[in-house]
Amino acid sequence: MIAVHFDKPGGPENLYLKEVAKPSPGEGEVLLKVAASALNRADLLQRQGQYAPPPGASNILGLEASGHVAELGAGCQGPWRVGDPAMVLLSGGGQAQYVTVPAELLMPIPAGLTMCQAAAIPEAWLTAFQLLHLVGNVQAGDSVLIHAGASGVGTAAIQLARMAGATPLVTAGSQEKLQIAEKLGAAAGFNYKEEDFSEATLKFTKGAGVNLILDCIGGSYWEKNVNCLALDGHWVLYGLLGGAVISGPLFSKLLFKRGSLITSLLRPRDKKYKQMLVKAFTEQILPHFSTEGPQRLLPVLDRVYPVAEIQEAHEYMETNKNVGKIVLELPQ
Ligand SMILES: NC(=O)c1ccc[n+]([C@@H]2O[C@H](COP(=O)([O-])OP(=O)(O)OC[C@H]3O[C@@H](n4cnc5c(N)ncnc54)[C@H](OP(=O)(O)O)[C@@H]3O)[C@@H](O)[C@H]2O)c1
Repeated sequence: MIAVHFDKPGGPENLYLKEVAKPSPGEGEVLLKVAASALNRADLLQRQGQYAPPPGASNILGLEASGHVAELGAGCQGPWRVGDPAMVLLSGGGQAQYVTVPAELLMPIPAGLTMCQAAAIPEAWLTAFQLLHLVGNVQAGDSVLIHAGASGVGTAAIQLARMAGATPLVTAGSQEKLQIAEKLGAAAGFNYKEEDFSEATLKFTKGAGVNLILDCIGGSYWEKNVNCLALDGHWVLYGLLGGAVISGPLFSKLLFKRGSLITSLLRPRDKKYKQMLVKAFTEQILPHFSTEGPQRLLPVLDRVYPVAEIQEAHEYMETNKNVGKIVLELPQ
């Protein structure tokens, strides 16, 4: 089969398509014929040699995919049959024509969604769902500050925060991104390049600050984050786009807010945790992607690339221009 490959860590120019062995499903696993996958920041880091796959995971890039069940491994007890459409959360291996995955991590594709839309769901939406509910313990009436509001994770988090009865506020680096975030449900958006988002957040919340911050930026935002965190607020750190090193009185500022700083990484979580997450998401959230019902959830797609243009797709993500997900189509 064809898979995205690189021989040595470095820039996007190192990526190419390689003929590799097709995997076989092990005990309790399913072989998925991949129609589409999507790009994640983790792919960029892995390509640069900064994010090794967890033990036992494929070293092929790709944390999510959509496609059809091609084969069932021994002992597969669940409802899945050969030919069924499905989308999956992966620890790696999605940017290939076939991938194996524990059967419990498959999710049905909501009616009316294309394979490309489905490929844009697993990583971003499961991350956003996990951060809001399992890690951040969001409550109806809370205010939630979502950084990188137009990112794959951000566009999902805005919609899920609204669904939870919370008030999402966002930061982003352009007016266009803020407008899209507001269309998705953000109550307000702040361009971090033009204004102090911390002061703007305090003004919006009438001095109270936000109950929850979803922070994939880290270093460059720490002081502003703690400044606009409400008393007893939760600050969830799940990425380091703004760096990992800080200098200053983080502990005293956090202590005087009685704030909780919590970190989260989904990819290295064990199978049991991911099964629980996929089950909760499938039951509680997937039905809301349907065209019926009062509040429809939508995966936001920026661009679709044929997988042969994998270098261009990485270069594009590195420009920070995408709103929502960058999707890769696999040859059928
Ligand atoms: N911990 C986990 O389990 C987990 C899971 C999935 C993703 N993530 C993390 O979540 C983050 C978002 O992922 P994604 O795939 O949704 O990203 P994405 O769609 O590529 O969007 C990332 C956006 O972040 C903004 N950004 C980049 N560098 C920045 C900086 N230094 N300061 C402020 N904003 C910056 C840019 O938008 P602007 O134009 O607004 O600057 C960029 O477009 C990444 O850090 C990723 O590693 C973590």
